[in-house]
Amino acid sequence: MHASLHTTVNDVHLSYSDPGGNGLPLIFIHGFPFNRSMWDPQIQDLKRHARVITYDLRGFGESGSDDQSLSMDVLADDLVWFMDRLNIPQAVVCGLSMGGYILLNAVERYPQRFSGIILSDTQCLADSKENKEKRFTTIKDIQDKGLDAFADNFLKGTFAPHTQQARPELVKQVKQMILGNKAESITAALKAMAERKETCSGLKHITAPTLVLCGKEDTLTPPSLSEYLFNNIPGAQLHEIEQAGHLSNLEQPETFNRHVADFIKHLHKKQTP
Ligand code: MLT
Repeated sequence: MHASLHTTVNDVHLSYSDPGGNGLPLIFIHGFPFNRSMWDPQIQDLKRHARVITYDLRGFGESGSDDQSLSMDVLADDLVWFMDRLNIPQAVVCGLSMGGYILLNAVERYPQRFSGIILSDTQCLADSKENKEKRFTTIKDIQDKGLDAFADNFLKGTFAPHTQQARPELVKQVKQMILGNKAESITAALKAMAERKETCSGLKHITAPTLVLCGKEDTLTPPSLSEYLFNNIPGAQLHEIEQAGHLSNLEQPETFNRHVADFIKHLHKKQTP
């Protein structure tokens, strides 16, 4: 992981990396229940095209938390106030899965802060009644049995079969990321996701250029949900990535980075006619 920097946002200490790079700020929001190191395979490559910034969501990785109950609104406010702290009026922001839920919430409430958005392996729907119940069962299981069993179970559905077989070290590394978080933060995030509002009805108002990426074998947020984003966000682009499941940036970093780089280069061109 790249050097840790620290700031305070909304009374909470956030850890982040800002290793430099050329051009527009490009901020990455990690998914549940990981940390910012999930973006390590993006940093070196994409630094050629943007100033790449990653941060740990409150409660995750090296960031702190407080007693405020967690919600997508709080996490989206953290993102925008984090940008304020870094004096970034506008950025291209990429969110994977729960990172995408946070990003879509922030885009709805602070549209002027985004010069481009990248939605990876995510969706705009709220949880169904059945999904909410599953989340509350998972919370109870974590409280009863701890994180190890939760992590093994969660990882079963995360990767494409190819990744699961060919890259055991990646699976292990992601498990360590999960185990590095506190059980209370993981359960708070599960509750926040269960209670999140839909963001589908606002998609037609998005004016920022949008790239939608998705692992072709993502079973947690299947391609049909990315196709929905693509069909409803004006002018969006979509790429489905072969041999990738839910963590498409880690499973196929070269393809993922290529799509992001092409998108950023196009934005640069638009800004400098
Ligand atoms: C994520 O990867 O952020 C989560 O799987 C999203 C979810 O559980 O809805």
